[in-house]
Formats: sequence, C-alpha cells, structure tokens
Amino acid sequence: MKKILTTKKIRKNKVHRGFRPLQMLTCYDYQNACMLDNTELDLILVGDSLGNVILGYDTTVEVSIEEMTVFASAVKRGAKNTFVVGDLPFGTYSTLETALKNSIHLFQKSKVEALKLEGAHPYQLEIIQRLTQTGIPIMGHIGLTPQSVHQLGGYYVHGKKSKTAEALKKQAHALEEAGCFAIVLECVEANLSEEITKDLSIPTIGIGSGTTTDGQVLVLNDLLHLGPLAPPSFCKPITNLYQIKKNYIDQYLSEQKSLSSSLNEAEVTLH
Ligand code: KIV
Repeated sequence: MKKILTTKKIRKNKVHRGFRPLQMLTCYDYQNACMLDNTELDLILVGDSLGNVILGYDTTVEVSIEEMTVFASAVKRGAKNTFVVGDLPFGTYSTLETALKNSIHLFQKSKVEALKLEGAHPYQLEIIQRLTQTGIPIMGHIGLTPQSVHQLGGYYVHGKKSKTAEALKKQAHALEEAGCFAIVLECVEANLSEEITKDLSIPTIGIGSGTTTDGQVLVLNDLLHLGPLAPPSFCKPITNLYQIKKNYIDQYLSEQKSLSSSLNEAEVTLH
C-alpha cells in the first residue's frame, strides 16, 4: 500500500539534493480521490480552482469556506493514503482572527494534512507563523495569485521585470522563514523560478513556471480536458475526456431512441 508523505519528508524534497520532482494534482471529489489514491501521486490539492471547474464561478473569489470544507472532506475520505492540501478561500484569512477560525475549521472538519494560502504580505507571514505554531502545516503560493485577480488586473506571467523578480525572491524567502513547508510558484518566469528553487531549502511546486521546480502541480480537469473549453496554454492535456464522455452519451441517447421507436412499432403491430 502507498505510504502517505509527511511534511518532514516533503521539506527535504529538493531536486538538487537528488530527489525526484514531487507530483501534485488537484482533485475535488470522492471518486477521483479514490482513483488518485491508487496511483503513485505524491500530493493532492483541493484547490479553490474548484470554483471555476466544478461550480462554474467566474473567479475563485466566490468560493466559500463551507464549500471548501465539503469538497476537501470528500477528497480526504477517498484519499486516505495521499497527502492532501486544502486551499483557504478568498477572504477567509484577511485577519489573524479569521485566519485562525477558518483554518482550524477546515483542517479539523476535512482532516486534510495541510492548508495553502496565497500571498506573502507581512500580515500573511504573521498568519503563517501562527498557523504553523498551532500545528497546521502551510503551503505558500506566490506569482499569479488568482484570488487577487481583480487587484492584479488579469492572469499573466510574473517576475519578467527585475523589480518584480526581486520582490518575488524576497517573498519566497519570507515564506520559508515564516514556516511554509513548500511553496507553489504559479506563472513565475521560468529562469526566476529556477533561481528561487535553487535558493530555497524547501521545495517549490510550479504551475506554468517552467520545468526546473522541485515539483509540478496541475488542475486534474485541465490535464484530462474535462471541461468544454481548452485548458490554459501551459497544460498539455493527455486526453479529451469531455469529448469522449460526450460521444458515449450521444451514442447511448441514440440507442435508447431507436430502442423505444422499435418498441412503439411492435406495440402498433400488436393492436
Ligand atoms: O486552486 C488551485 O488549483 C491552485 C493551483 C493552480 C496551484 O491553487
């Protein structure tokens, strides 16, 4: 049986120290969690991307702590032997008090192994310190932070200019110092993400940030092309389950139709 990772092991997982890259995928439901639990996948993220891909919201800003708790609990029930990280939704960690209340609620109810939050402002560093001291392992997340999409003014690659690159390096170090056991780098310029990865002693997990991070995370629904729209350009889907499922349903519907029309014909002949 697969052995669940620990934060102690994850912390050491640096590619430059000879470890293989960590593999992480998102998941939002019990059945897919059971399936992923039966693979060699290292980490599952119950991302607030569930707002987009499961709930059909425009942005992740709309996701609530109640919704996250329901989905994270379902995933953890299916993924008993995989390290599961739950996302803290927008607005649930805007003060130390709310962060403690919401994190303890999500962590206790869902039974996930860790939580993730976006950003590295000084007040967030204080929150990370406090949460880790409380016993809740925290994964950081910098670069493109979708919960701030309205503040950022869109989805784009971060760290292309030297000023923003310096700021991201400082943020990464500050998150490590605050106690994060790993950091997601989302849409961070590839050379910069390599530099940050080499500099830190905790692993970086990239998405749309090149190939040289200590791990990669992708949205399962993008990887399997489960939705009607094409996934973001950095994710090359391995199949098109949207089309495959649609073909099966179309086939089923037309078989049912021809079955019921042949039954109707038989009825008419009997009369
Ligand atoms: O919510 C999410 O799926 C994420 C990943 C994109 C890192 O935060």
